[in-house]
Amino acid sequence: MANSPRPLVAGNWKMNGLKAALTELTAMAKAYDPGLQGKADLLICPPSLWIPAAVSQLQGSGIAIGAQDCHPQPHGAHTGDISAPMIKDAGASHVIVGHSERRSDHGETSEMVKAKAEAAMAAGLVAIVCVGETQDERQSGRAKDVVGEQLRHSWPMGAKASTLVIAYEPVWAIGTGLTPTSADVADMHGFIRQECERLAPGQGNNMAILYGGSVKPQNAAELMNVPNVNGALVGGASLKASDFMAIVEVYR
Ligand code: 13P
Repeated sequence: MANSPRPLVAGNWKMNGLKAALTELTAMAKAYDPGLQGKADLLICPPSLWIPAAVSQLQGSGIAIGAQDCHPQPHGAHTGDISAPMIKDAGASHVIVGHSERRSDHGETSEMVKAKAEAAMAAGLVAIVCVGETQDERQSGRAKDVVGEQLRHSWPMGAKASTLVIAYEPVWAIGTGLTPTSADVADMHGFIRQECERLAPGQGNNMAILYGGSVKPQNAAELMNVPNVNGALVGGASLKASDFMAIVEVYR
């Protein structure tokens, strides 16, 4: 059996939350007691505007802060973008790259995702690379082909278990309340595990592979117990401390 990477439960706030939403972080920090700290890592990726405030608010809580995207270049004339060194400098430790919403809203290709992931790692951040098929791709039996291709082309050079996390997020499960069956998740995560070890021999077996897409308190235990699922990437249910921490509780 593959080694068990330490679980990571990550919240992706997407474009949600005004300043007042930061009070949820205080509630999360309170619920993340030493018992839970011993079992799973926690990460919140708020809108990048709130990274510095979130970092200072969570100081000493053990909860990490991440960004939702970064530019592949460290600096330059790229209006509106933020770079990986800026994210690191603001006190964050992770960055999500290649989320399906960035791939579809901004036309990001896997080659761009690879460049972003490499920039993140070069800046000392952990890159969370997202992959996942659409409903059409699943229905036509191409889910693994699509995910395999995304993985290969998005794969950052020199990735290690300590610098890369993979998030499998079926596009049709994001924000829809739909989830794949446990058997389908097991099948896909087993495939991703194999690919990780093939792409980074000696590292892939220790890499965390997160499941994302409509993870809720009600389905977290089932999904998190699937082999090769080492945590979750949570959207909507990460906006409220009570929901998010109920998901994390499955690891206690
Ligand atoms: P939901 O949990 O809202 O389905 O979003 C999942 C996601 O896209 C996390 O990155």
